[in-house]
Amino acid sequence: MVMVETKGLSKCYSSGAGPEVEALSRIDLKVERGEFVSLMGPSGSGKSTLLNILGGLDRPSAGSLFIEGKEVDFGNVEALVRLHRQTVGFVFQAFNLIPTMNALENVCYPMHFNRVSRPLQKKRASELLDLVGLEDRVMHLPSELSGGEQQRVAIARALANRPRLILADEPTGNLDSGTGKRIAALMKQVNREEGISFVVTTHDPEMAGNTDRVIKLRDGRVIESGSVN
Ligand SMILES: Nc1ncnc2c1ncn2[C@@H]1O[C@H](COP(=O)(O)OP(=O)(O)OP(=O)(O)O)[C@@H](O)[C@H]1O
Ligand SMILES: [Mg+2]
Repeated sequence: MVMVETKGLSKCYSSGAGPEVEALSRIDLKVERGEFVSLMGPSGSGKSTLLNILGGLDRPSAGSLFIEGKEVDFGNVEALVRLHRQTVGFVFQAFNLIPTMNALENVCYPMHFNRVSRPLQKKRASELLDLVGLEDRVMHLPSELSGGEQQRVAIARALANRPRLILADEPTGNLDSGTGKRIAALMKQVNREEGISFVVTTHDPEMAGNTDRVIKLRDGRVIESGSVN
């Protein structure tokens, strides 16, 4: 089953008096259910732009996006909200945790929007913090956690609403290489055990080498898409 598909996806940015930037140019790609894909390419090649559109955080200038076979209507705010609540989870390079909430509350937060009861929120959040190995950091604020620990909270948070797709923009970009490896291994474990599809942007060839497939972008175009082994 196809998790995500794009057809002729393009994105142009026009900024003030300057020339238009074509950040993405007619991208056609498919990600299967349960697949772990890495997105590589030089700075400015369009990786973040593509990831944001795949998750419905940004809208394309042309072309279409299908999630689980259904075309995403970028004009339909309700449908986009539903997509974020039910189908897609995000992990960012800068973790983006809420600084005033402890680890447990950060993981509970997305469940609030699905009207999950407080006891169930807390139960699931503590199970997810167990899964990412943070059972003894539940009450810590983000500022009291290391970078790798904050990213593990962010992964637990991304899993909160049982998404079928996780999109991660340079999730190991702010981490040292050892910690980055552990985060990559954790994502792989979640991918394998829960069957969740992943699309992850990275500059790290070693991380990309451990995924099912690498898609390479240059100047907003796919220049290569192939399995690693
Ligand atoms: N909001 C914006 N307005 C105008 N141009 C933009 C905007 N966002 C991105 N761009 C341009 O689109 C292109 C693609 O940017 P994008 O952030 O997707 O690259 P990237 O591959 O993620 O790079 P990096 O590896 O540095 O994160 C770049 O040329 C960038 O300058
Ligand atoms: Mg980027």
